Amino acid sequence: MIPDLCHRAARDIAGAHHIVALTGAGISVESGIPPFRGPGGIWEKLDPMEYAHIDAFMRDPGRVWRVLIADMKTLLDQARPNDAHMGLVRLERMGKLKTIITQNVDGLHQAAGSHDVIEFHGNFAWQRCLACGRRISTTDVEMAEMPPRCSCGGILRPECVFFGEMIEPVNLSRSRDAAARCDVMLVVGTSAMVQPAALMPTIARQAGATVIEINFEPTPLTGQVAHYSLLGEAGATFNAILAALEREFQGDRKG
Ligand code: OAD
Repeated sequence: MIPDLCHRAARDIAGAHHIVALTGAGISVESGIPPFRGPGGIWEKLDPMEYAHIDAFMRDPGRVWRVLIADMKTLLDQARPNDAHMGLVRLERMGKLKTIITQNVDGLHQAAGSHDVIEFHGNFAWQRCLACGRRISTTDVEMAEMPPRCSCGGILRPECVFFGEMIEPVNLSRSRDAAARCDVMLVVGTSAMVQPAALMPTIARQAGATVIEINFEPTPLTGQVAHYSLLGEAGATFNAILAALEREFQGDRKG
């Protein structure tokens, strides 16, 4: 089943000219970053409304820093791109993949070498002072005091979108445009539970794209919005698709 679907994905990719990927936390699991939902997910242990809602952060920023953000900083400092991130880079180099819309804030697509990455939920690389607005690189944040503070005394917050906050309008409009323009959308490692990001595959499908899902387990897209779903780990699945693509379709073209 999976080899057949890898072959089908390779064939669809070979025929595509404008691929867009929508990625989620699952693509970074093999880099050592836990997902939010599914096996080992962060929201199995913590209530997102208690730790990832902007009202919770404003009520008690020290608690959110201690329980959630400090651990994220440690994990993201150590994380490196995996085979799935690299697979998307390879598709970009082939001239196939044009844009990645990622819900992740870990910067691993850029670290891998992808160029056009829309960070739908912001990024963790920067902190902003709630008092003076100064931006500070997350690696430079002094973690001795919780919550960490700017030199002006203001509290720092990550430049990520918390629940209850707006998506940056330019990210939303660029993502919608990219979804509407693609001929293939790869949906990788997302539970498709959080809107409006989860709407992008529907926009792509309605505009005529083939929607291919790569995920560890079925999601609301499976058998619905996705034309087909490859259920497995993202890194191994990418390696199998790319091997089929190089072996069968690029070989055909050369021959
Ligand atoms: P989720 O954690 O909701 O979903 C990750 C999906 O990846 C799950 O369906 C897992 O089964 C799957 N998965 C796990 N390991 C995998 C692997 N090795 N290969 C392939 N798939 C794997 O992550 P997102 O959909 O990105 O928002 O979550 C969306 C948003 O919810 C996040 O951006 C974040 C979160 O709350 C905010 O913080 C605003």
